[in-house]
Amino acid sequence: MYAVANYKMNGDKEFFLSQVQELNKIDTKDTKIVLCPPFIYLPFFKVNERISLGAQDVANAMKGRSTGQVSATMLKEFDAEYVIIGHSERRSNGETNTQIVDKVKCALELGLIPIICVGELNKNSGNDEIFEQVDAVLKNIDHSSKIIFAYEPVWAIGSGDIPTTEEVKNVIDNIKSRAKEMNFDIEVLYGGSVDEKNFTTFSKAGADGFLLGGITLKTERFIELIKGMDNE
Ligand code: 13P
Repeated sequence: MYAVANYKMNGDKEFFLSQVQELNKIDTKDTKIVLCPPFIYLPFFKVNERISLGAQDVANAMKGRSTGQVSATMLKEFDAEYVIIGHSERRSNGETNTQIVDKVKCALELGLIPIICVGELNKNSGNDEIFEQVDAVLKNIDHSSKIIFAYEPVWAIGSGDIPTTEEVKNVIDNIKSRAKEMNFDIEVLYGGSVDEKNFTTFSKAGADGFLLGGITLKTERFIELIKGMDNE
């Protein structure tokens, strides 16, 4: 199971140094911890067998005239293994499926594992939007690529309003069977208001782990969640 921390634009040097110290004290068997701080804090993290590093975005080109962007090569240089791509908070700023596919290709070229976020905007908007986002990626990359999808219903992010196990299972099963039809072997995470109390709702739905926001800013509860996942 993956516990992927998306700190978003939160935290400071002191927070990250102290959280890493606490995370280093815990022992996990099956839980892979992936920490995705804002770019500038990547050098503060040391990776080990249990803790990996990821970024929250990557440029859609390898280098050049792209003010403010960070390339896959640069992320590799600071030990990132994963990169979140297409988060709804970026899609809502105009990021398109085409840009997302280009970012995924850049990440894959450098051996980074993309965690591609997909999800419907509103509670009752149906699943078409999700599968459009999934297909845009699957149709444009090689089937042997190692990729992870994160199903994040946008309405569930930071709201405390969560879908049912059945609803999440339905989406995860559909993403997996679509991928299988195209000969991909992928994993699917769930994200959106996951905490130490409700995570089993989503593990029961077949999620291979979680993309975590708010809970990662509360170190004790984040650790409780990781331990809970590990004991499942
Ligand atoms: P919350 O866990 O705060 O709902 O955020 C989820 C998320 O957007 C992770 O990428």
